[in-house]
Amino acid sequence: MKPEVYITRRLPAAAMKRLQEFCQPEIWDSDELAAPYEEMRARLPGKAGLLCLLTDRVDAALMDAAPGLKVISQCAVGYDNIDVAAATARGIPVGNTPGALTETTADFAFALLMAGARRIVEGMDYVRGGHWKTWGLQLLLGQDIYGATLGIVGLGRIGAAVARRARGFNMRLLYHNRQRHPEYEAELGIEYRPLDELLAESDFISLHLNLTAQSRGLIGEREFNLMKPNAVLVNTARGGVVQTEALYNALKAGRIAHAALDVTDPEPLPADHKLLTLPNITIAPHIASASTETRSRIAMMAVENLEAGLQGRPLPWPVNWVG
Ligand code: DGY
Repeated sequence: MKPEVYITRRLPAAAMKRLQEFCQPEIWDSDELAAPYEEMRARLPGKAGLLCLLTDRVDAALMDAAPGLKVISQCAVGYDNIDVAAATARGIPVGNTPGALTETTADFAFALLMAGARRIVEGMDYVRGGHWKTWGLQLLLGQDIYGATLGIVGLGRIGAAVARRARGFNMRLLYHNRQRHPEYEAELGIEYRPLDELLAESDFISLHLNLTAQSRGLIGEREFNLMKPNAVLVNTARGGVVQTEALYNALKAGRIAHAALDVTDPEPLPADHKLLTLPNITIAPHIASASTETRSRIAMMAVENLEAGLQGRPLPWPVNWVG
């Protein structure tokens, strides 16, 4: 008998095929809506594995609904939706998908940076709204990217990949991180700054932090007040790193020039949210890693973690260490 597992979203075809070779999956079969918590809790009893997404709250109560749970496999690199300490206490290995989405996410962060700098979405709205009557000398003036200063908050794999792209634009590079990274400083010519100094010096600020108790709400009113009026804030990390009310106020008052976001708090952002009334914001629906190749790759990694956990082997990409 193959072990039974619960999968909280339909996976790309190759991953689905691979999955069926070693387990019996029950799937929340929707691409539109996340599996409701109560649904997951009702479906988990008797399951040996859970393959979940960043939209799924995986807490101690959910784990306790499946006493035979042998593995939790997150189909994403971030795992702030999972109570990893609770999983570790129960001896359940948790896996994620690091590395696979680095370049794709960095591409998107840079696309957001450019869209914000050059007001591309505002331009599209202008054309669509029928306002384009002539070539305008002062129309939709943005700011130069080449030669500007980029501050990267959180210099991990993705932050470094963004910095590599920025070098092609001859940008001056700063970073803030819990630990210094001499290897990146040497490779990229990137300079360390305390957070406040980075915020005050940068024309572009790109966030690449995990969401933790320390990083939640890191960018608030005080931090916006430190930024330059021309600053463009890019967030492809997690919405919760930025205080939404403070962001709204900073954009509305012109304290900063633009925010270009792939992630928001709340997420999804309701269509009537006040952030969407602002002209100086670009928002994408958490799609930074959404290339066909990358999403297929991360799904396959999640399946491999799941298989290893079901077979009692160490996970190829573990988040925790269980005895
Ligand atoms: C992640 O993996 O954490 C991204 O936010 C989605 O790909």
